Amino acid sequence: MKKKARRVKPEKGESFTATPEQYHNYLLERDYIQKQARKDFVLQPIGVIHSPFKESAGTPIQPRMAEGVKGSITIYKKFGPGLKDLKGFERIWLIYWFHRAGPTQMMVTPYLDSKSRGLFATRAPCRPNPIGISCVRLLSIRGRTIYVSDLDALDGTPLLDIKPYVPKFDSYRVKRWGWLEKQGKTQAKADDRFEAKTAKKVMEDKNGMVSRLSPG
Ligand SMILES: C[S@@+](CC[C@H](N)C(=O)[O-])C[C@H]1O[C@@H](n2cnc3c(N)ncnc32)[C@H](O)[C@@H]1O
Repeated sequence: MKKKARRVKPEKGESFTATPEQYHNYLLERDYIQKQARKDFVLQPIGVIHSPFKESAGTPIQPRMAEGVKGSITIYKKFGPGLKDLKGFERIWLIYWFHRAGPTQMMVTPYLDSKSRGLFATRAPCRPNPIGISCVRLLSIRGRTIYVSDLDALDGTPLLDIKPYVPKFDSYRVKRWGWLEKQGKTQAKADDRFEAKTAKKVMEDKNGMVSRLSPG
């Protein structure tokens, strides 16, 4: 389908008709956006999370439910210098890719409810861009290894970014927190509902299906 051209006014006095691609190129040529700001958002992991959890079932559903769960993060060499000054923070945000999330779903039944909810009103991993955020406790940093606790991420999770947790920026007193105000469940650990099926599981399901369909 042909992309519709639209009138854009990129800067004072200048105006032209452009497709979104042309406008993007216009911005790139003039250094108005970073060269890396590609439309397809290629992300590069900055490291990898090592945690005791090999699969979703049994993994805490949030850092609050993972108190004392220790793990580490290896930061790739070229990003090592960015760790300077981080050790002064008690907690850090890990921003990561749910690399083992199952297919995207717009309606999900969250762990803390028995009703189906809109994905964006939940923290479920099966997102269009499967990005997770965890505010973990920073224990120590040795070289390019960061030791943390309160981890709710699976072992091998690709890390996209780290930001310091700053109460002044990140903590608000609020009066409403949606459906979670009346949550009926107190589940602390996940099951495999949002996880991509392993080849083994696919085979087991298939075999189960075959034996259910078999006569006798
Ligand atoms: C409910 S999510 C919340 C994650 C994060 N604290 C957030 O709010 O974005 C936590 C669950 O995601 C699942 N999970 C963790 N790391 C994952 C990964 N790399 N791929 C797929 N699922 C993952 C585990 O089952 C874990 O219990």
